Order: sequence, then structure tokens, then C-alpha cells
Amino acid sequence: GLPARVRIHEVGARDGLQNEKATVPTAVKAEFIRRLAGTGLTTIEATSFVHPKWVPQLADAEDLYPAVADLPVSLPVLVPNERGLDRALALGARRVAVFASATESFAKANLNRTVDGALAMFEPVVARAKAEDVHVRGYLSMCFGDPWEGAVPIPQVVGVCKALLGMGCDELSLGDTIGVATPGHVTALLAALTDAGVPVSALGVHFHDTYGQALANTLAALQQGVTTVDASAGGLGGCPYAKSATGNLATEDLVWMLRGLGIDTGVDLGRLVATSVWMAAHLGRPSPSRTVRALSHQ
Ligand code: HMG
Ligand code: MG
Repeated sequence: GLPARVRIHEVGARDGLQNEKATVPTAVKAEFIRRLAGTGLTTIEATSFVHPKWVPQLADAEDLYPAVADLPVSLPVLVPNERGLDRALALGARRVAVFASATESFAKANLNRTVDGALAMFEPVVARAKAEDVHVRGYLSMCFGDPWEGAVPIPQVVGVCKALLGMGCDELSLGDTIGVATPGHVTALLAALTDAGVPVSALGVHFHDTYGQALANTLAALQQGVTTVDASAGGLGGCPYAKSATGNLATEDLVWMLRGLGIDTGVDLGRLVATSVWMAAHLGRPSPSRTVRALSHQ
């Protein structure tokens, strides 16, 4: 069966914007997050405390986070290492995310580490966060396919998932970074994780819509008991360190499907569409989301 309720983990302000070439003013990002909070979304990833040379668009994290910290929503932030954790904790962040890779190629491209080297970098981050009662999400990229290595073997993904949970991550987000997954592959990976003793309640899914499969993949995950789904308002996004990564699953497309299935998200779709249309005007191009296009005159 399908769940009665799904928690949407909104990534538009982070995954959505991190790849934008033109610098989005901090005030626009803050207003975007405020508007997203006004739609009923309860988990809104705000920014990343990464090296500013690696992701210049998010170099304003120290200014942005305090500008939205008063909102009555969870505002997770990405931290790759202890330096990132220090920066996030100094601003009062209560939810952080580390981001691992299932493949060596992407670990190198995204983190300048081997897979194990990245895990070793995260270990003290997770330990310190847990000691301070800070919630930790563990992203895992390239769970299905990798632009350099092709299809990613399921046991390789299961191994890194177990390592992330073993070090104390509260939840995982299974990333289809380049959007190549199809529903059968999603079902097979989730079944393998369940067989390996990973509770499905600890798993979220993170689909990119490169091949138009993100909604079908989401439905497959819901059928396996997943209730946390990542999405990006207006379908913004892409990863600067993965060639061929396009936008994330659009939050509007997700809400439309879930609403049709009678699954509660607490999100006001009209307000969300208006927010994405507003953001599209700032970015100077229309939203790629089919639902945004259908419900607006952009
Ligand atoms: P590195 O070059 O190996 O860094 O990068 P390092 O540890 O050797 O340190 C070098 C210098 O950087 C030092 O400064 C550090 O202090 C500084 P120096 O002593 O030379 O003056 N430094 C920092 N400064 C500020 N904040 C920090 C920080 N860390 C070190 N946190 C590093 C390693 C991890 C830092 C780098 O690779 C990095 O920042 N990577 C981030 C890449 C990224 O953000 N990618 C996008 C997010 S992942 C994603 O989008 C996928 C996801 O959506 C899921 C999916 O779709 O699959 C989550
Ligand atoms: Mg992503």
C-alpha cells in the first residue's frame, strides 16, 4: 500500500540554486526560503557550508542562514567536514547533512577524496553533531548510475549506506544524481537495503528528472514504504560536479501526484506555484516543471 502522509524535503534553495551561474542576491534567496515556508513545507534545505571556491553560489551562507533562522521550519544545511560543521554550529544550525558518494569517480570530483576518505572525513562531523543533539542526514550520491562508471552495483550502494548509518546518521537520502534510475532499479535497491537490515523509515529518496523518470521512481519508492521525498521547487537544480545532472524532481509535480493519490503533504500547491513563478522571473527563465507550467501563465 501507499503511505497516508509524505514529508517533503525541499532542496530548491540548495540543490536548486547551487548550479546557477549568475549570483543570486542573498536577499532573493532569503525571500525564496520565506515564501517556501509560507506554502506549508516544513523541511527546507537552506544552503551549504562548503568551500566557497567549490560552490561560489553558496558563498553567502553566513549571511543567508541568520536571515531565515527565525522561520518555524527545519532548515538543514550541508557540511562536508569539521570546518563546515563549525561554521553551521556557530550560526545555531540544528540539522546538518553530510554527502557521500557510492562511486569513486564522484567522490573524487565532488569531495576530492576516495569513498573511504570521504567517510573518514564525515565520521568526526557526525560524532560531534550527535554529541550536540543535532540531526544528521547522510546523502548518498550516484546510487543508480554514475556519469563516468555507468550502472552502479547495488551491493556497493548498500555498503556505503551501512557505513553512514553505522557512524550515526539519523536518516539517509538515496540520490539519483544524474537522473538515470528507473522504477525497477529503485524497487531492487530498496529491497536490498531492507534485506540488509536497513529500516525503510530511515530512507528518503532524491531523484533528478533528467530522463523524466523522477515521479515514476518516487511512486516505486512509496510502494516500498518510503515516506521522505526530496524535491526542488520549480524543478530547479543540478550538480556542478556531475556532468549531465539536470533539475531535481519538481516539488509541484510531486505535490500534484500525491494530492491525486490522497496523500497528505500539508503543502498549498497554489502558493508553491506562485513562489516558483516568482523565482523563475528572478532567474530569467521559465520553470521546467510541467505542473508549474500547467497552473500558471508564465
Ligand atoms: P579540499 O580542496 O580537499 O579541501 O576540498 P581541504 O580539506 O584540503 O582544505 C583546503 C582549504 O579549504 C583549507 O583552506 C580549508 O580551511 C578550506 P586553506 O588552509 O588552504 O586556506 N576549507 C573550507 N572552507 C570553508 N568551508 C569549508 C571548508 N573545508 C575546507 N567547509 C572539500 C574538500 C570537501 C572542502 C571540497 O571538496 C568541497 O567543499 N566540496 C563541496 C562540493 C559540493 O558542495 N557539491 C554539491 C553538493 S553534493 C550534491 O549536490 C548531491 C546531492 O544533491 C545528492 C545527489 O543529487 O546525489 C546532495
Ligand atoms: Mg541533488
